[in-house]
Amino acid sequence: MEKHALLYEGKAKQLYTVDHPNMLWVQYKDVLTAFNGEKQEQLLGKAQLNNDISSLLFQQLSMENIPNHFIRRLSETEQLVQKTTIIPLEVVVRNVAAGSLAKRLGLDEGEPLKQTIVETYYKDDALGDPLINDDHIRLLELVSEERLLTMKRLALDVNHLLIKHFNICNLKLVDFKLEFGINPEGMLVVSDEISPDTCRLWDLDTNEKLDKDVFREGTGSIGEAYQTILSRLKGAVEKG
Ligand code: C5P
Repeated sequence: MEKHALLYEGKAKQLYTVDHPNMLWVQYKDVLTAFNGEKQEQLLGKAQLNNDISSLLFQQLSMENIPNHFIRRLSETEQLVQKTTIIPLEVVVRNVAAGSLAKRLGLDEGEPLKQTIVETYYKDDALGDPLINDDHIRLLELVSEERLLTMKRLALDVNHLLIKHFNICNLKLVDFKLEFGINPEGMLVVSDEISPDTCRLWDLDTNEKLDKDVFREGTGSIGEAYQTILSRLKGAVEKG
């Protein structure tokens, strides 16, 4: 398999076409961004960390029959995925108060939530990815009623699986963001990436932050945090 034309370049990844019309080549970048691209930094080795972490997590999804775009890891920093039409919504699932939820509702960071929260955000850089409800989604005709329900159900299935898996790694899944696409067979699949860029992950014993908040808040070494996540995930795979 060879990569051809650059199809799209995002903040953290490049997408290339390949010989197969239904597949794309993802190249992870050594770049960290936060606050809608306002804070940006080079970090050598970050592409490899996120590619490895995301590959391992998508393999877990596949093992549990959760439909997703991942085909295989191609190299340290590259993977092959199904070509999808991205739905312009981010689905955020939250188990513990943090980030924008804690701010919006005046909750203390770290407060466990009595119920799992599912939120939808409109993927639109110019608007700053606003939180939107089902009525707004209907108004903008972003996705059908049935697919929206399936997206939320799948997001909860992914939450259930990831909580269990991260627990084996002595990690607490605070919250995470998923994106969905429609693959060439017309099937809704989890797409994009699942990594410490898109999840809040805290050490189960100490609550130490091991995700992008380390970069957002400038509190430590992001390389070390992401390496800890990868090592623990690899340990969990070895344990079976
Ligand atoms: O900032 P907020 O608390 O809304 O983020 C919730 C979760 O979604 C966090 O895990 C964050 O890393 C992730 N997220 C993301 N991409 C965005 C917005 C949030 O991965 N554009």
